[in-house]
Amino acid sequence: MSEKEMEVSESQIAVHWQEEDYYYPSEEFIAQANVTDKSIYDRFSLENFPDCFTEYADLLDWDEKWHTILDTSDAPLWKWFVGGKLNVSYNCIDRHLAKNKNKTALHFVPDSEDERIQHITYQELYTRVNEVAAVLRDFCGLKAGDRVTLHLPMTAELPITMLACARLGIIHSVVFGGFSPSACADRAVDSQSRVLFTIDGYYRGGRWIDHKKNADEAYEISRKEGHEIEKILVWERHSGEYKSSSPLKENRDYSMNEVLKNYRRVKVDPVSMPAEAPLFLMYTSGTTGKPKGCQHSTGGYLSYAAGTSKYIQDIHPEDVYWCMADIGWITGHSYIVYGPLSICASSVVYEGIPNYPDAGRCWRIAEELDINIFHTAPTVIRALRKIGPDEPAKYNYNFKHMTTVGEPIEPAVWKWYYETIGKGKAVIVDTWWQTETGGFLCTTLPGISPMKPGSAGPGAPGIHPFVLDEDGKEIMPGEGKAGNICIKNPWPGAFQTVWGNRERYIESYYGQYCKDRNSKDWRDWPYLAGDAAVVASDGYFRILGRIDDVINVSGHRLGTKEIESAALNVQELAEAAVVPVAHEVKGKEPDLYVSLKPGFEASDDLAKRVSEQVCNDIGKIARPRKVWIVPDMPKTRSGKIMRRVLGAISNFGDVGNVMTLANPEIVDEIKKMVQGDDDVTPVT
Ligand code: WTA
Repeated sequence: MSEKEMEVSESQIAVHWQEEDYYYPSEEFIAQANVTDKSIYDRFSLENFPDCFTEYADLLDWDEKWHTILDTSDAPLWKWFVGGKLNVSYNCIDRHLAKNKNKTALHFVPDSEDERIQHITYQELYTRVNEVAAVLRDFCGLKAGDRVTLHLPMTAELPITMLACARLGIIHSVVFGGFSPSACADRAVDSQSRVLFTIDGYYRGGRWIDHKKNADEAYEISRKEGHEIEKILVWERHSGEYKSSSPLKENRDYSMNEVLKNYRRVKVDPVSMPAEAPLFLMYTSGTTGKPKGCQHSTGGYLSYAAGTSKYIQDIHPEDVYWCMADIGWITGHSYIVYGPLSICASSVVYEGIPNYPDAGRCWRIAEELDINIFHTAPTVIRALRKIGPDEPAKYNYNFKHMTTVGEPIEPAVWKWYYETIGKGKAVIVDTWWQTETGGFLCTTLPGISPMKPGSAGPGAPGIHPFVLDEDGKEIMPGEGKAGNICIKNPWPGAFQTVWGNRERYIESYYGQYCKDRNSKDWRDWPYLAGDAAVVASDGYFRILGRIDDVINVSGHRLGTKEIESAALNVQELAEAAVVPVAHEVKGKEPDLYVSLKPGFEASDDLAKRVSEQVCNDIGKIARPRKVWIVPDMPKTRSGKIMRRVLGAISNFGDVGNVMTLANPEIVDEIKKMVQGDDDVTPVT
């Protein structure tokens, strides 16, 4: 076995299951669906590429029409709708006012049931976004192309600030609210943001979380890294009542509540932006190094978000749509904010967690707001199934459509979602995609295709996925072999590049299968998604998990290297290795193996400090399940840590042949430590 093959990857320990039977959309659903005409797949065939995507672009209002649909001259940095100009905030707000100004754009649902839901109309959103845009322009002196970091939780102020940036062509970089100050600082430094938005605090699960202090720390860390954040703008969770324990620092921190007083009802003209201008950065974990800033475009991205929201989310003007992701991730950007608002939907922003104060919370929200489209991740479905399997039946809500996203969903969990949450009536779309891709890549079309539990389905319209083996040979549908899922063609939602790192963009996503680096023909540049998949004879793709060192914890992407380098900040450590462990609810959890420098002793206290270090550097979502302090790492003769062996031990799997290792005896020792002496039942 080569060293490459011996490395552990998530797909190698993925859950494997049998082919499942089809489920069909109901007549009732089909009767109202936005897309029921099967010719859509012909319209979006490769023969009609790239022109087919004008169908999505035509959903938007353009100030100037494009002259070139797809420009490949700088391959593989694709440019869409070149020559076109538009403004994203105009498309998400202004253009809806004539007919729908009194319609709710955002329902803000607070964590506590005692606090009333806020229904923010398109008119109110317009007013608030304009005022914040005025602050950005006139108080901060920002202009198109500048970057701003938003370290904000799930309150209405987050989409309002994003849309205010978009109004001026300012590039926003939203950092998930639960990320640590150091993660926030890294992103502010990488994007060179002069302005940071934060909030005094917010509520989650009944607890007040003081958030402003994270900005203070992020400021200090950025400074140490040589970057000065000039202004910190602080929202207040309850406007006019500053509740953080951390004071506002003069000439650096400004209360938005105060600043906005000077910009009341100020109108800011939307800046007409080239289609190719960056709209936002979204940082995500990759195989190596620090998270990379995926740069998304204005025209292509919004076209793709709008088109897929209409065709795949099946959003109609009268629907109430709830995506329970966090806006701090790509799902929230595309399918809470930009997609739904661009097509004038009512979109829910929920501050809290699914199980607070009890397992019925989601269904009460659904009932109260009459939500009929529901969008969440397998980890949430698993958790809801565990804590309240009979809860949905007690409530009188009515879903027509449900989405699952973020990780593979086990057929048993899918069926519970369908039968119990969907009450056997709602269609399910299992949407496979990534931060990099801006919108869905594989999914069924809800009014057309049958569903298959555990399968993401065929490519979305205009997306042509295929599976390649390591040598670039296509694995054909029905062959039953796993390989690397790739996309044959570019699409408008795809990110433009890695912020400031063109080489990393090309290497990570196009390096493996491009045969001619000088080619300007998109056919020579298949996009490597980084997931393993099998394609069944019906053309449905089943995603198995990552092929690289990325762990998907509760649908959140974490780089093993990120966790390892955070751990190594504890000075006693010599080496660290992270492996994914199967978890009933979260899908995967990181297990962290560490060895110590000579002269240091293992202790519970040290293990705890390592765990804390990881939480501090990245955020609590990265907390290791367990820190195992081992006498030595299993290594190849060339000194490479054998993560595959550690992964097998953590998952009670087969460690395989270890005799070729430099130190095979260590394997049993670690196994005893992790699995105990007794025979145990496997957990996978
Ligand atoms: C995984 C989230 C199986 C996959 C939108 C991908 C999925 C990574 C699915 C991207 C799905 C996402 N079925 N796996 N329906 N959706 N994934 O960037 O491994 O946070 O590469 O984007 O999540 O995660 P990201």
